[in-house]
Amino acid sequence: MEHTANSLAALNFYVDAGVDEVIGDTPVDRFAESKTPAVAKAPQTTAPSRQARQNATPASAPRKIAQTEAETSARALAAGAADLAALRDVMSGFDLCPLRKTAANTVFGAGNPEAKVMLVGEAPGADEDRQGQPFVGVSGQLLDRMLASIGLDRDSVYITNMLAWRPPGNRKPTAEETTMCLPFIRRHIELVAPSLLVFVGGTAASTLLERTDGITRMRGRWFDYAVQGPSGGGGIPAMPIFHPAYLLRQPALKRQAWIDLLAIKAKLQDIS
Ligand code: URA
Repeated sequence: MEHTANSLAALNFYVDAGVDEVIGDTPVDRFAESKTPAVAKAPQTTAPSRQARQNATPASAPRKIAQTEAETSARALAAGAADLAALRDVMSGFDLCPLRKTAANTVFGAGNPEAKVMLVGEAPGADEDRQGQPFVGVSGQLLDRMLASIGLDRDSVYITNMLAWRPPGNRKPTAEETTMCLPFIRRHIELVAPSLLVFVGGTAASTLLERTDGITRMRGRWFDYAVQGPSGGGGIPAMPIFHPAYLLRQPALKRQAWIDLLAIKAKLQDIS
């Protein structure tokens, strides 16, 4: 009884602290662990030598191999997808990204694939994961209002994310996850072939433009996104903007976001 009360108290504490997923980065086989006889560990009296540490296999080594395999596979699958429907299929079946195992849905994209403007966000959140659609939560509602302010809506833009699967607890995607999924978003852009790209937030901007500067330095500027892949070669004008989730936390920055939106509107009028 006391054990149950303690477990409940611990669970309540986790919920209050914001924990909403109970997973780790790598699977742990507890059954195998419990079969291994416990060996009493002799206390370590001296630190391992530098040589011993250099010879030891780094803990990340097996992950690196898996990473390469996932990237190679994603690249081949993305290149082989002839259209958006095929890309959606291969992504839905891609099980080498650990995020897919914990996500409820593959969030592929939404809006008008014939649109001149394509927006790329970071990754689905809880609402997007539940509904299988990008930007449908609170930040999506702000994004809709931002688009409406320059005469755009979900029928006149196409929206997707760098990653199609929700990172547990809405954490930031790791560099490994982003790199692994990069061939999919690059092919996605190539297939939609928009006239303008809007990178929503720093993750999409820095990854797709291969830059290290932060969103505050990149926002509001036009960059040339180099299309990669079979039909590549050309460039697409791309503007990074503040992520609406960031604007919700920093409303004073909406003024700068407004200036960026006006620049997007003017560019659209130029190319129409
Ligand atoms: N944030 C994103 O970057 N994308 C979504 O789809 C939702 C929230």
